[in-house]
Amino acid sequence: MNYEQEAQEKLNKLRDREDYLILAFESSCDETAVAVIRGREILANEIDSQIEIHKRFGGVVPEIASRNHILAIDSLVEIALEKAGCTLNDIDVIAVTYGAGLLGALLVGVSYAKSLAYALNKPLVAIDHIKGHVCANFLAHPDLQFPFMCLLASGGHTEILDVRSYSDMRILGQTADDAAGEAFDKVARVIGLPYPGGPQIERAAKEGKDCIPLPRPFKGEKTYNFSYSGIKTAVINYAHTCAQKGIEINKADVAASFQARAVGMLIENAVRAAQEHGEGTIVIAGGVAANTALREGMEKAAEKHGITVLLPPKYLCTDNAAMIGEAAFFAIKEGIPAAGMDLDADPNL
Ligand SMILES: Nc1ncnc2c1ncn2[C@@H]1O[C@H](COP(=O)(O)OP(=O)(O)OP(=O)(O)O)[C@@H](O)[C@H]1O
Ligand SMILES: [Mg+2]
Repeated sequence: MNYEQEAQEKLNKLRDREDYLILAFESSCDETAVAVIRGREILANEIDSQIEIHKRFGGVVPEIASRNHILAIDSLVEIALEKAGCTLNDIDVIAVTYGAGLLGALLVGVSYAKSLAYALNKPLVAIDHIKGHVCANFLAHPDLQFPFMCLLASGGHTEILDVRSYSDMRILGQTADDAAGEAFDKVARVIGLPYPGGPQIERAAKEGKDCIPLPRPFKGEKTYNFSYSGIKTAVINYAHTCAQKGIEINKADVAASFQARAVGMLIENAVRAAQEHGEGTIVIAGGVAANTALREGMEKAAEKHGITVLLPPKYLCTDNAAMIGEAAFFAIKEGIPAAGMDLDADPNL
């Protein structure tokens, strides 16, 4: 039997079990992350964030990200295994994000995971980063079961997903242009706040008022889609007008107004999608799900409409490897085939 056949046989035997160990890797952007999970339990969740390195460039520099993943990944594995109280031999499955993301960054995780899987003769499971974000909710909410509605808002994606199973996630609505997190980052840059903009805008918004008129895309239209470019342009125009008049821009008010609009659109669409599809549970996922205004607003709106909203802790919203391990756990349950040694990174997955 060759490596691939043996790996598949091993995965098949794990399908109905919950007690095995998954070592998971995530390196799609600027976080190197390694985790060990068992079923719906996190045993270790190590993250080496490069935010400080990329900050001075105002965004992620792909080549620098790849190089730093290489530097971090080995020692993170050591730390994760130690925290989980196990060795590489105890690991049953290796899981890795193979897309979407930055090609060079993804390749570090994929090559590392492939080498490890082959050398240890363990099955390898390839995970879509976005499915990982959704599955973070299974770690956060041990009673969560399919189906549910998911509002995913991250640096690269803004989607409302009708999640029926691991392999059946349907996009009901998505962004026509920028992703929500991307818009937070760009608006922050316009008003002179550092990268990443999301947490900075959130902090600044606390001191400001929602008093600057900004457009509401698709207002009154029967769509679950989003658009952020018009709001972003309105902020840029506002900043230019202030500059021309020689008035200092009120960063707090811009942050509060932008946040209210950005978050309001997410909440309205998600709640309406759940209502119109008769879905009683909404979960949220992705980096923007760490935003307090979004979390509080979702809770309020859901309560008003008799919908349950489940919020993952903030550390499971942004990129991490535990969510990738959890996605692998559900992929294995649903009989998704093991990845072969021909697995490649797919930046546009
Ligand atoms: N408190 C917050 N409020 C708003 N946005 C936030 C907050 N915290 C993080 N973000 C945003 O979340 C994004 C990062 O999220 P995440 O790590 O999930 O995205 P990504 O992995 O870069 O993109 P994707 O998952 O789509 O590939 C950034 O754009 C960041 O500004
Ligand atoms: Mg992400």
